[in-house]
Amino acid sequence: MSEIEIRPLTPRIGAEVQGLDLREPLDAGRVAALKQALADHLVLFFRDQPIDHESHKRFGRCFGPLALHSAVPGIEGHPEIVAIHADAQSSYVAGEDWHSDLTCDAEPPLGSILYLHTVPESGGDTLFASMYAAYDALSPRMKTYLEGLTAIHDADHVYRPLFPDVERKYPCSAHPVVRTHPVTGRKLIFVNSSYVTRIVELPKDESDAVLAFLYAHVKNPNFQVRFRWSAHAIAFWDNRCTQHLATWDYFPQTRSGWRVTVAGDRPF
Ligand code: SIN
Repeated sequence: MSEIEIRPLTPRIGAEVQGLDLREPLDAGRVAALKQALADHLVLFFRDQPIDHESHKRFGRCFGPLALHSAVPGIEGHPEIVAIHADAQSSYVAGEDWHSDLTCDAEPPLGSILYLHTVPESGGDTLFASMYAAYDALSPRMKTYLEGLTAIHDADHVYRPLFPDVERKYPCSAHPVVRTHPVTGRKLIFVNSSYVTRIVELPKDESDAVLAFLYAHVKNPNFQVRFRWSAHAIAFWDNRCTQHLATWDYFPQTRSGWRVTVAGDRPF
């Protein structure tokens, strides 16, 4: 393999990586370079990588053990891989609202690696936002106010309508509203409108108002990068310090692929 080239797409978030063939195992030097690139750019994009399921899982395991999705079953023979698919029969797509993956878990994922083999002619972009940039842009007074607050991240209202299995209990966890990234040591906003139901320490109306402010704040386009997919592209995002949103502007066309998730640790 040739040398890795990292091309930033914006100053705050996103870089395209060239010089790798992810069908082949990566040596320790390349894995270290990708870990550093992820810490620096938060989401990495790779083009023209027609990987199979084994290569996908092997690439994910370079960054840690793979996690099982706490609600969506994996594909046959590969419990660690979930299908991301939409076509003319779809009534919803995964990730249409701003979110980080599975923040309902006690130990939310470190990152997710999405590979799309089929993409619409146009549309189907994914937007990613830096929660470092969102935190940095808060006033010092707001940063002080948010310090020490805890939010409830509940999966029930997300997954019960999709899988109405009355017996099933979906995860629900409390995490700090402002977390510290375990690798970079930077602070970031860690609430998202998909999973969070309330801030524990505040009365309900105040919690609703603070969350509404934060959800509007994190959508600032200056914190974002927008990825235009091509067939066999891959996006690898640091789930601890980003949020993302999948656009669904391409109905009834097909957009299809698979995602693996790298296990994370308890936010602090
Ligand atoms: C997801 O939320 O993981 C799906 C992202 C996408 O389909 O672009």
